[in-house]
Amino acid sequence: MSTDIVETATDPIEALSGRLFAAGVEALELCNVYLGVQLGLYAALDGRPATPAELAARTGLARRYLGEWLQQQAVAGLLVPDGDDPAAARYTLADGVAAVLTEPTGPAYLGGLPFAVAAVGRVLPDLARAFRTGDAVPYAAYGPDALSAQSALNRPAYVNLLIADWLPRIPAVHARLADTGRPARVGDFGCGPGWSTIELAKAFPHLRLEGYDSDEASIAAARRNAAEHGVADRVGFEVVDLADEGADWSPRHDVSFLFECLHDVPRPVESLAHVRRALAPGGTVVVMDERTADTFTAPGDPVERFFAAAGTLWCIPQGMVGADPEPAGPLMRATTLREFAARAGFGDCEVLDIDHPFWRFYRLVP
Ligand SMILES: C[S@@+](CC[C@H](N)C(=O)[O-])C[C@H]1O[C@@H](n2cnc3c(N)ncnc32)[C@H](O)[C@@H]1O
Repeated sequence: MSTDIVETATDPIEALSGRLFAAGVEALELCNVYLGVQLGLYAALDGRPATPAELAARTGLARRYLGEWLQQQAVAGLLVPDGDDPAAARYTLADGVAAVLTEPTGPAYLGGLPFAVAAVGRVLPDLARAFRTGDAVPYAAYGPDALSAQSALNRPAYVNLLIADWLPRIPAVHARLADTGRPARVGDFGCGPGWSTIELAKAFPHLRLEGYDSDEASIAAARRNAAEHGVADRVGFEVVDLADEGADWSPRHDVSFLFECLHDVPRPVESLAHVRRALAPGGTVVVMDERTADTFTAPGDPVERFFAAAGTLWCIPQGMVGADPEPAGPLMRATTLREFAARAGFGDCEVLDIDHPFWRFYRLVP
């Protein structure tokens, strides 16, 4: 079997075995990328090519392991060696590696992806058990790599697109946020580590913002992030379960956001109804969620395949918590979201004209 089979095989058995072999290679290579990001190896090599001995001296890591890793990365095409002897060669980052793996706020950064795979690896036995019992595998069980993944995956979009591209395409919301005479109060529900909240706070220094998430580790990280970015005086973060009827849903938010969390929550309709209840008169909700195909599409394109694969391993097991969970999962269609919005009492749900390969945006008004 060779990887050429992936492109050339017409026999379905050969084609599938070739495809799975290639997937196995990519999965193992992604785990090596995890080590490179986690241990700061790409950053250590950025602009400073090194031999195994030099990289060991620079990082304090074990030379035998680094020698093998450098060789592996060169074989995989992420590093370029300057000679034939792997132990003596000096290794340089291949074109593109710095942007994709060393710049956490850069638009191309993808260093969070291997952390998601690592977090899933940790809970695979739990997932097999959960398939038998129907129980949840809570977010916290995925360990710290899960939060690192979540933190890193969406942050580049918030830093590069939220203020500069997305908000100007929602003029009424943008104008409300920019109104210094009548500072808006903003809710960011399912805020995770708070990067969206923090970018909003930095862009609109007159706003007061509140981020909510049911995950304690995420809220602790969000508070740390806000303090580091100098916005903690205007941004509060609280552990709140969106489905909790007993939480404070008194009317107060002029603009509320749900960034890529509605498909994850165990009770999407109740959650949306609570967000609606917490709106001040005239308030608006903006939802960002997966840009799924309009209908069940099999086989799907790579983005749809990513959503489908994340659903079984991440979103559904994490969403099966609490009483009578009915998480929508990342294959939530626009029609489903519209139905949720209507059942939660919203009078209108508009799909916004914002183009992004992964996300679709909605504006909900009561
Ligand atoms: C895919 S993450 C998105 C996080 C953040 N908005 C971002 O874009 O980085 C989904 C978030 O929803 C949160 N979540 C799930 N169920 C929730 C619930 N019932 N109440 C509040 N937050 C919830 C998770 O803890 C997680 O932080």
